Amino acid sequence: MVVRGHSVVNASATSPAAHPAPGSPFNLENDTAYLEWREQKLSACPACADDLVVEVRDPRCLTGAEHDAILQRCRSANMALYRSGCGADPDKEIPKRLALQLGLTHIDRNLLADDDGITALSLAAGGERRDYIPYSNRPLNWHTDGYYNMPERRIRAMLLHCVRPALSGGVNALLDHEIAYILLRDADARYVRALMEADAMTIPERVDENGVARPAQTGPVYSVDPTNGSLHMRYTARTRSILWKQHPVTLAAREFLERLLASDMPQILRVRLEAGMGIVCNNVLHNRSGFADSSGDARLLYRARYYDRM
Ligand SMILES: [Fe+2]
Repeated sequence: MVVRGHSVVNASATSPAAHPAPGSPFNLENDTAYLEWREQKLSACPACADDLVVEVRDPRCLTGAEHDAILQRCRSANMALYRSGCGADPDKEIPKRLALQLGLTHIDRNLLADDDGITALSLAAGGERRDYIPYSNRPLNWHTDGYYNMPERRIRAMLLHCVRPALSGGVNALLDHEIAYILLRDADARYVRALMEADAMTIPERVDENGVARPAQTGPVYSVDPTNGSLHMRYTARTRSILWKQHPVTLAAREFLERLLASDMPQILRVRLEAGMGIVCNNVLHNRSGFADSSGDARLLYRARYYDRM
């Protein structure tokens, strides 16, 4: 399902598949396909965040080699980092045009995004944004973007472009959600089964002064996209305003995942974006540490979310 602006197009295409196809590596009955995919995945896994970095001259106009290097990393690790010569140039065309070149054309316009769907993330002095952690300098816990969205607004890709880093802090940790899947399935396949259930996780409705601003969202943590067979993850580590299925295996799976994310395992990659740097990913698990700004220039990042996958 694709949403352009606020109008919904092709509304049947993105509801989560109840069961992955028989040949899918994400089908729990097919260990052969899983083990083959797993081996391939782990052999291409980046050893450190530096392995993900692509030097680009101008993200608005990639060379063929830059373009291929970014996509190759996104194919194997679901994410790439770029370091550009743009420095602190605040041009919003930088993330926008970069995304277009990577096939990301359907942008999510959320509540607080500016009209073009590119959200400026910086410390909010007041107003509506003040209440949201992304617009504060507090740590942002592990999540995938849009975990509260309706299935027709599923976020498959996300881009962060840094205009100005903080004086200190503001480190992003990243974990490929497919690596998390492997660790869960290897530990106990029942964890994966529980997290693929349609009632695994519920985000309660959000109410504002006008009534229900967003209805409750019940759905799986892991699902397989029926349009392309890719694995999607919907997750938040927050403990307030979230209801997990009260089944012992679901709760054990959640706890296992929490322990993974709190660990310092080498598969968790950490990066502090500098001016002109960015992350482009197929909505992998991520968090952000707290940060402190200098008195003059506040940390400024642009974020864009897409319904497309790279
Ligand atoms: Fe995020």
